[in-house]
Amino acid sequence: MIVVSGSASKKLGESFSKEVNAKHANVVIKRFPDGEAYVRIMDNLDGENVVLIQSTYPDQNAIELFLLQDAIKEFKIKKLTTVIPYFGYSRQDKKFNEGEPISARAMAKHVGMMSDEVITIDIHDKSILRFFDVNAKDISGMPQIAKYFLKLKPTVIIAPDDGASGRAKTVAGIIKCRWDYLEKKRIDGEHVEIAPKSVSAKGEKIAIVDDIIATGGTIIAAAKQLKQQGAEKIFAACTHGLFTGGATEKLKGVCDLVVSTDTIENPTTNVSVAKEIVKEILKQ
Ligand code: R5P
Repeated sequence: MIVVSGSASKKLGESFSKEVNAKHANVVIKRFPDGEAYVRIMDNLDGENVVLIQSTYPDQNAIELFLLQDAIKEFKIKKLTTVIPYFGYSRQDKKFNEGEPISARAMAKHVGMMSDEVITIDIHDKSILRFFDVNAKDISGMPQIAKYFLKLKPTVIIAPDDGASGRAKTVAGIIKCRWDYLEKKRIDGEHVEIAPKSVSAKGEKIAIVDDIIATGGTIIAAAKQLKQQGAEKIFAACTHGLFTGGATEKLKGVCDLVVSTDTIENPTTNVSVAKEIVKEILKQ
């Protein structure tokens, strides 16, 4: 096996190749003066099972991924497994208004075109996997987030909505604590309250887990409500830390700790999903 990574996932590619004891290919990635990408794989990939790792955010990293796939396919390889740690455009997985694309489908079709199989990590909705024309599997970074939380000993794991409750359940199962999800309760015509469905927040050390933190709006609203209800501490964790528009600073105001994984490298990255990718690749 040989590992190729694009510039969005270089560190994760290095961690993964160390874990599986495989070579991390030497890849040159540059930009032309007009901004277009140039990639070149310096190792011979003939006869190899190739694992390509590259998140597709921001957009330029998606282009890099397509160029790397094309370069890899120029060799006489056995198989190309494309690992997309953060699969961009996953939140537009349906048409919300007439005239819109199903962006997740457009991305999946292109990624699948030159892969023999695809692995994603905590994709926004697993139903997106049906858009790939090749075998596609989603794995989770939540077990690694749970391991990180073991030493912090949260007493309750909370999902910000019902859709994310599977993630909270996974983390709580490893830590062996309670879990719940938030529900919006309408107080009157103008006010809504976000509260755990069945667990009280009073005096609890709460870890809120989600797939993505982008603007931070979801976590901030949840954290404020939980603090108002008497939570002692609020930790926030996500697989994919986009942290747009000053989200990191805003989150610091309401959360005692924010952590994310290396699917997108950022200052809060303290967890690696490398071991989860290894588990999946070695199964095959
Ligand atoms: C939404 O369905 C996702 O699971 C996240 O909750 C959302 O993308 C987070 O975005 P933001 O940080 O902007 O609230």
